[in-house]
Amino acid sequence: MRQNLVAGNWKMNMTYQDGLALVSEITNMVADEVAAPNAPQVVICPPFPLLHGIGKLLPQGSRFHLGAQNCHHKESGAYTGEVSAKLLASIGCEYVILGHSERRQYFREDDELLGQKLKAALAAGLKPIFCVGESLDTREMNETFDFIGKQLQDGLFHLSNEEFDQVTIAYEPIWAIGTGKTASSDQAQEVHAFIRERIARAYDAEAALNTTILYGGSANAQNARELFAKPDVDGGLIGGASLKSRDFTEIIKSF
Ligand code: G3P
Repeated sequence: MRQNLVAGNWKMNMTYQDGLALVSEITNMVADEVAAPNAPQVVICPPFPLLHGIGKLLPQGSRFHLGAQNCHHKESGAYTGEVSAKLLASIGCEYVILGHSERRQYFREDDELLGQKLKAALAAGLKPIFCVGESLDTREMNETFDFIGKQLQDGLFHLSNEEFDQVTIAYEPIWAIGTGKTASSDQAQEVHAFIRERIARAYDAEAALNTTILYGGSANAQNARELFAKPDVDGGLIGGASLKSRDFTEIIKSF
């Protein structure tokens, strides 16, 4: 179901105490705004050890939700150091980020593995936030649409209509992640519209209209409002700016 949504991807940052303090600040600073009728959903995605403690600080029944940054593709077993989707759901996670470019790069996550992770997340009742995005080389070679189209086709479009309905897509141009170099709102809109068109081709027009598509890549308090005003941008997947309560709450208020 399509909705305005802001997700904070904390990546490998925060101690337990600092994380609890940050979430307390965020939920207090925008308690009224997030309770308003047309407020966005807000998803907090901390590192694994913080999930349970932070989950307990998110007001029950509110638009604040808990998300994980990854999950294993098996339900249980001898996978030292890994965390299953089933365990994440059991501690209150509702969302899980999958296919982030950093995991594709550093942990060699390919479309086959991501397909298995998607199935595991959906089977556990989690809502995947599935990331796609091109490198600077790909963009400069004018191959962005071919590349994104392949990521969607090979990584996502094997899902059934019912499964796909649970998915949020995040367009994160790799050249904008952590660089301070944000895609322009027109660049973001162009790719988001392309993604929606490909969804319509793979599924149908209704699925395309009902899919939440987030932008990620140096989104911040200054550029969020222009980005979110674009017709096919439904919110953001925020990295660095989600670690500062003032910046993140300003982004939440940018619709
Ligand atoms: O998942 C969101 C992240 O990749 C974006 O990072 O720091 O550019 O907002 P950042």
